[in-house]
Amino acid sequence: MTMKQVDPGVEMAPAPVLEAAVGLPNDLTAAVKFTLPTDEDMTAVAALRASSEPWKSRGETQEDSLKALAQLKPYIHVAKLQTQIVGYVTVERDGPVPGAAYLRNIVVKQELRKKGLGAVVLEQALRAARDMYRKTIALRVDPSNAPAVSFYRKAGFTTVATVVSKKSGKLRLLMSREL
Ligand SMILES: CC(C)(COP(=O)(O)OP(=O)(O)OC[C@H]1O[C@@H](n2cnc3c(N)ncnc32)[C@H](O)[C@@H]1OP(=O)(O)O)[C@@H](O)C(=O)NCCC(=O)NCCS
Repeated sequence: MTMKQVDPGVEMAPAPVLEAAVGLPNDLTAAVKFTLPTDEDMTAVAALRASSEPWKSRGETQEDSLKALAQLKPYIHVAKLQTQIVGYVTVERDGPVPGAAYLRNIVVKQELRKKGLGAVVLEQALRAARDMYRKTIALRVDPSNAPAVSFYRKAGFTTVATVVSKKSGKLRLLMSREL
């Protein structure tokens, strides 16, 4: 009886890695899940922040982002579509406006922007602020960050003051909305 020999020199080509699906689900509100970050998520969230404006132009490294986010860990809500991190938002009970919750960061993965994800992530922030028994939520934004300013206006935020950033000395809009 003859046995077929398998040539040990021939290697099977690895299965191609599937690219992430480009399309987003129709019902984003139902599809996006929010969690507190795991340690593994923290690395991914830091990479997201470091590669995104306004931090990218400020020269913030992933290590800087990780340090800054480590301070905010209990306030981070990570947005996931299945296992993929698509954005995050931070909500603290106190911030620059007395009595108002504070949204310090909101980021959507660059290639998924302008598809409604930011609005879903913001809704989570509003829920979190309501859960803290706040009636108002505030944020600071660089007036030159036009996409963010438009996004916040569309979501009902109005400018309540113009302030000077202690860190950079640059002007920031202080915006807020009722919850
Ligand atoms: C701000 C940000 C979170 C918005 O996320 P997004 O997923 O693009 O937002 P959405 O698709 O839900 O947009 C909701 C609305 O915001 C407005 N908007 C969003 N991006 C905009 C842009 N680039 N230009 C003008 N308006 C914009 C629109 O009115 C939009 O409504 P429409 O789709 O009906 O026109 C996203 O641009 C981002 O991650 N930016 C980088 C990080 C940042 O600057 N964060 C804010 C400072 S911490």
